[in-house]
Amino acid sequence: MPRPHVFVTRQIPPSGLSLLAHEEYEVDLYEKDAPIPREELLKRVKGCDAILSLLTDKIDDEVMECAGKKLKIIANYAVGFDNIDLQAAKQRGIIVTNTPAPEVSETVAEHTFALLLACAHRLIETDRYTREGKYHGWGPMMLLGVDVYGKTLGIIGAGRIGWAVAKRAVHGFGMRVVYTSRTRDEAFEQEFSAEFLGKEQLLMRSDFISIHLPLLPETRHYISTDEFSLMKKTAFLINTARGPIVDEKALERALRTSRIAGAGIDVYECEPLIDCDVTDHLELKSFSNVVLTPHTASATIEAREAMSMLAGKNIVAVLSGKDPINPARVS
Ligand code: GLV
Ligand code: GLV
Repeated sequence: MPRPHVFVTRQIPPSGLSLLAHEEYEVDLYEKDAPIPREELLKRVKGCDAILSLLTDKIDDEVMECAGKKLKIIANYAVGFDNIDLQAAKQRGIIVTNTPAPEVSETVAEHTFALLLACAHRLIETDRYTREGKYHGWGPMMLLGVDVYGKTLGIIGAGRIGWAVAKRAVHGFGMRVVYTSRTRDEAFEQEFSAEFLGKEQLLMRSDFISIHLPLLPETRHYISTDEFSLMKKTAFLINTARGPIVDEKALERALRTSRIAGAGIDVYECEPLIDCDVTDHLELKSFSNVVLTPHTASATIEAREAMSMLAGKNIVAVLSGKDPINPARVS
């Protein structure tokens, strides 16, 4: 029997690849450390049994067609899977998996708090101030931020990452948690004394709002002009989920008009662009009360190794005829 053939679209941490090699699969890796060009992707997937893809790869029906009949699994090295056409995969009987490893939820929750604290304590702004030699002595009114302690955190989406964020908020920082999600989660409410609210109430009551939703047609621009108009003027918005969930132009207008106090942003509407359109001279990076990171919320050695391992395990499971560990589902 020929050895199963796995195409990996870019170098990832080694644990999952070692697992595939240990199974004696034939592992073909796109050799450059950059997103694989479309044409190359269409060529290289031919005849493979499995694709290990990244969130920067658009895996649509054409890719599946080019791969051919042997393709059984697309293992996405990411928690999100909006880059994959799930419907097309389903029609072709191809399994799609993701990597919601417990480690990754903790990592993303840490990054969420890194952004939240950086906003509240004006960390980036004050670092810049200090480096630029502007500090000439302590002042009682100098560069005042706001406390996180005792404030209300509005969590949008009570999945694994929402849980990990709530845990830190309540047990680490003495915050109150309110949340909204498609369905109520009584365990979440009990664990964190959290209050379930409708979207509008959550926006009106929260001091910090953190998004932990998947990107779906119905969550695109979930936060737009109307939503910003409901928020407290002192509120901060944190987005570590997917860029298009927030209407970027509406966010920029909200910042320009001081509709909200600031934002911590890890994901962008037109990634890898930070701004889809700069012709209106409203740019996220022009605001000192915005903290920006380059889609690095899961970028720790531990989380990325866990993701690699889980992507590898999903491939091994499916190619050996077992159920996938993490089938990608829009539940
Ligand atoms: C990162 O954005 C992921 O979905 O894992
Ligand atoms: C600040 O440095 C203080 O001692 O209050």
